[in-house]
Amino acid sequence: MSETKTKTALITGATSGIGKAFAYFFAKAGYNLVITGRRENIIQPIAEKLEKKYGVSVEVLIIELSNQLDLDELVQKTKEIKELEVLVNNAGFATRGTFVENDFSQQEAMVRVHILTVMKLTHAALPNMLLRKKGIIINVSSMGAYLIGPHNTVYCGTKTFINAFTESLHLELLNTGIRVQVLCPGFVVTDFHRKMGYNLAKLQKNRGLIQWMTPKEVVIASIRDLARGKVVSIPGKSNQFLYFLSRFLPRQMFYSLLLRNLKKLASSI
Ligand SMILES: NC(=O)c1ccc[n+]([C@@H]2O[C@H](COP(=O)([O-])OP(=O)(O)OC[C@H]3O[C@@H](n4cnc5c(N)ncnc54)[C@H](OP(=O)(O)O)[C@@H]3O)[C@@H](O)[C@H]2O)c1
Repeated sequence: MSETKTKTALITGATSGIGKAFAYFFAKAGYNLVITGRRENIIQPIAEKLEKKYGVSVEVLIIELSNQLDLDELVQKTKEIKELEVLVNNAGFATRGTFVENDFSQQEAMVRVHILTVMKLTHAALPNMLLRKKGIIINVSSMGAYLIGPHNTVYCGTKTFINAFTESLHLELLNTGIRVQVLCPGFVVTDFHRKMGYNLAKLQKNRGLIQWMTPKEVVIASIRDLARGKVVSIPGKSNQFLYFLSRFLPRQMFYSLLLRNLKKLASSI
């Protein structure tokens, strides 16, 4: 992945956290970038820093991905990047509260960002990648795809979609030169929980089976798994153990374990 500067990586949600870490990784590897976000005052300086530090070009697009017009603009842009080699569908968010009490429009926006955006950008990127017989698509999902739970219904549902979508796509794209990965981080220190109104420091105190990782560690695991040809990337030993439990414990036992741990987490914040 140390190729020439005529290659471009498109990364959604690069203002902070995992998307920003991907932007650093691909800029360092010599890729020109197209990055999206909404907090212009934060993402613009990141772009300038990356351009200066790594000598690549970085285009910033301020986009609300739950807005159809914004998304269609990004789709058009994606189709036009002939040298697009990497697409990282990373942008995402979560909400607090039960399904019934939550504002429905926020849940609908989540479906647009986690499902429609991933589908549309992948669909827009693939024709050029297929022509060039080369490409990487990383879809950022979550351990939430496995550790289903109350107060996270639409989040877990949409992330489960990303897993099934990406793994199915992998089988469709065998022997085309295009590699796809679904990245399933557990807890990562980013702006994600703060935006939900949590006190990150308090949240991090509760460890138990939970392993907090940095965005850089997540990106390193993703890239390492990509090199190994792993389609599902689960960063962190503890998350891999939780994945194992989610697959092989009898469901009732798994539900009890989940609820016990969530109660412990809730009492610590
Ligand atoms: N942090 C975790 O513990 C964790 C765990 C598992 C999976 N993930 C997943 O990792 C991905 C990245 O999250 P993160 O933890 O790095 O959080 P983050 O620091 O909050 O970054 C999220 C990025 O997505 C963008 N975004 C969110 N909603 C958007 C919308 N409606 N329209 C356009 N852009 C939007 C944000 O833009 P602005 O900030 O500029 O608004 C930001 O750039 C998400 O898909 C998340 O579900 C996170």
